[in-house]
Amino acid sequence: MKIGILGSGTVGQTIGARLAALGHDLMLGSRSPEKLSAWAGEVGVKVGDLSATAAHGELLFNATRGDASIAALRSAGEANLNARVLIDVANPLDFSAGMPPGLLVSGDDSLGEQIQRAFPGAKVVKTLNTMNAAVMVSPSLVGDGDQTLFVRGNDPAAQAEVGRLLAEWFGWRDILDLGDISTAREVEAIVPLWVLVMMKLGRPTFQFKIVR
Ligand SMILES: NC(=O)c1ccc[n+]([C@@H]2O[C@H](COP(=O)([O-])OP(=O)(O)OC[C@H]3O[C@@H](n4cnc5c(N)ncnc54)[C@H](OP(=O)(O)O)[C@@H]3O)[C@@H](O)[C@H]2O)c1
Repeated sequence: MKIGILGSGTVGQTIGARLAALGHDLMLGSRSPEKLSAWAGEVGVKVGDLSATAAHGELLFNATRGDASIAALRSAGEANLNARVLIDVANPLDFSAGMPPGLLVSGDDSLGEQIQRAFPGAKVVKTLNTMNAAVMVSPSLVGDGDQTLFVRGNDPAAQAEVGRLLAEWFGWRDILDLGDISTAREVEAIVPLWVLVMMKLGRPTFQFKIVR
């Protein structure tokens, strides 16, 4: 599959390297793609600017910093997002008052909703944002690997397809579709709790599990 990942930080590189290893035609998008050329050569991915990357992907990931996601997606080009599934991994975290972070959005909004409003033609599916990047692509790093993966968005078919792909690619088994994109509010809001637990445990390899 042709996949574009917007954002070149830990998340973009971790997901990118794993999908490239699985044989996908992957492009990683950055404002400065040249800085990635050595890494891209090692792992076998293409790099491009945000617009080229969005044009490349039949399926896209938003792995940009939460406070820059809307601007980054605008640079990617609204036309390139239309009718595409956009897996939104970003969190609107506010580190201005130190750790753990707060949120940049009020309780009646979320970054997932802001992205869906700004790009109504995109099929935004918010998922993978409640765990460390290494766990995103290897749930088996934690316990028995059966933690809960929350999925939400406004297109149930897109959510089902993303769940199926993440199960096939990375081995997710307990996939919980929470409903429309407004449920991103509650799930983004638990990310500061995740950071607090990480500070307490001193490691990032843990994840939420809904036991039922
Ligand atoms: N790290 C994790 O384990 C983790 C876990 C769950 C969720 N998340 C979320 O996933 C997203 C990515 O996290 P990350 O840790 O990989 O990296 P990050 O430090 O949040 O930054 C990701 C990328 O965003 C791009 N960026 C930053 N400012 C920008 C701007 N003004 N305009 C356009 N692009 C900009 C940068 O790419 P370029 O400089 O190459 O353009 C940067 O590499 C974040 O929203 C984060 O909250 C992270």
